[in-house]
Amino acid sequence: MKILRAVEPMREAVRMWRRQGKTVGFVPTMGALHEGHLSLIHRARVENDRVVVSVFVNPTQFGPGEDLTRYPRPFRRDAALCRRAGVEALFAPRSFYPLDYQTWVTVETLSQPLCGRFRPGHFRGVATVVLKLFNVVQPDRAYFGQKDYQQWRVIERLVRDLDVPVTVVGCPTVRDKAGLALSSRNAYLSAEERTAAPLLARSLRDAGQVLKSGQGVAAARRAARAVLGRIGNARVQYLDVVDPFTLADPRPDGPWLVAAAVYVGRTRLIDNRWVKP
Ligand code: PAF
Repeated sequence: MKILRAVEPMREAVRMWRRQGKTVGFVPTMGALHEGHLSLIHRARVENDRVVVSVFVNPTQFGPGEDLTRYPRPFRRDAALCRRAGVEALFAPRSFYPLDYQTWVTVETLSQPLCGRFRPGHFRGVATVVLKLFNVVQPDRAYFGQKDYQQWRVIERLVRDLDVPVTVVGCPTVRDKAGLALSSRNAYLSAEERTAAPLLARSLRDAGQVLKSGQGVAAARRAARAVLGRIGNARVQYLDVVDPFTLADPRPDGPWLVAAAVYVGRTRLIDNRWVKP
């Protein structure tokens, strides 16, 4: 596996594969890889001749006071995991934004609800770095986890609106045995918080059952909040029920996306559940 620390060598590797007629699958990450990332890599492995993973902790998607400086960066471990998973190239640019950087990509409406309400500029940072990464790697397919549901939808729209020649593949959330969605940020949880954190997934499941039974959005939110109340030191940032395609208010007869962001202690966890009528 090649580790490429700058744009030009990454481009050159892809150019060579293209000359050989190979297809390229791409998994963009911020590192601290877990089984969720590995499931994306495995899918990319199956569907493409060559797989590129990027590891770049993108500063432009973190707000002031967020966890940019303490974000985990176990690079050697990440590289070993990628090598074992059969990745051909690991793109980990030392720097990716020139000092006088000034070009941004904003996916207007989809970036506003849910996480966008509380993380202004976050999806602008994500969309911008993902388009930059796509321009360097020029993959045939790119893989995103549906745990970051809004991110997946934002990237899908970016690709559609700007005619980016990439197929965006959304992949199911990977959970631990207790149901907690895997996330690099789970590493911040204390043992006690970790035990309580699966209640987040449970709260979304309960809300889903209420929606399916026809009791409506307000009752679903109450059901979810009742479960979240059982997490000792939790603070709900948002708990919303939206249309899974537009992320706006849902139609009364569904489908619905139940999505939440909850601070468990100092750690912000997000999760979502698609509910069919
Ligand atoms: O999901 C992530 O890890 C990041 O938001 C991404 C897509 C790699 C962009 O920095």
